[in-house]
Amino acid sequence: MEVKNFGLTEGINEVICVTEGKSDVGNINTAPIGIIVGENIYIRLFGKTHTLENLKNGSKLYANVCFDPLIFVISAFKDLSKEYFLDKFTLKCAYSVLIFEPISFEKKENHIVCTLKFIDGRIINPLNARAFSRGFSAVIEATIIATRLKMININQISKKIEELGEIVKKCGGKRDKEAFSYILSVLRKNSINLDFQS
Ligand SMILES: Cc1cc2nc3c(=O)[nH]c(=O)nc-3n(C[C@H](O)[C@H](O)[C@H](O)COP(=O)(O)O)c2cc1C
Repeated sequence: MEVKNFGLTEGINEVICVTEGKSDVGNINTAPIGIIVGENIYIRLFGKTHTLENLKNGSKLYANVCFDPLIFVISAFKDLSKEYFLDKFTLKCAYSVLIFEPISFEKKENHIVCTLKFIDGRIINPLNARAFSRGFSAVIEATIIATRLKMININQISKKIEELGEIVKKCGGKRDKEAFSYILSVLRKNSINLDFQS
């Protein structure tokens, strides 16, 4: 059994990581995280996250493979409540779920590398073919930037998000546009008001 049978490929795979322990809603935490697949499988965790705390405290990592832009955006800023779940660790939007055990934590200069051991996988909804979506990918890029507000210069953020917003407008579907509006609302809460007409 290999991770590629459950939708992961070589490189960074953006998934929704579900862990058990610290959470804003009950004891189930959700966050988009990139799982890096190469010779080893690992994640890089930046700053203080509930994901890191939960893994250090013994939680397994349940990687939900999903393509819902709104789920990526919401879970980047808060934990998803029960209504988004099919069962304890499986999101309704998941195509597959891979279960990993953290086997080591290595401190690097500005992040922690957590090496993972693949334990099991489950296909929830077989995905045979999927065309690449620039709209979805622009939402993901914009979400990543919006989670790094403290690390990036405000002018750089605004310019980049506006450019990505134009791609979402041109190439995205309704769900991508809804997700992008959510990002704009998070930015507004952080006093970043963009000159962007959706
Ligand atoms: C697509 C995407 C990928 C991300 N990948 C990572 C990652 O690999 N490592 C990380 O530390 N944060 C990553 N983030 C940011 C975290 O999701 C974010 O900091 C989140 O708030 C952590 O939540 P938690 O405290 O509930 O664990 C990513 C965000 C997005 C949108």
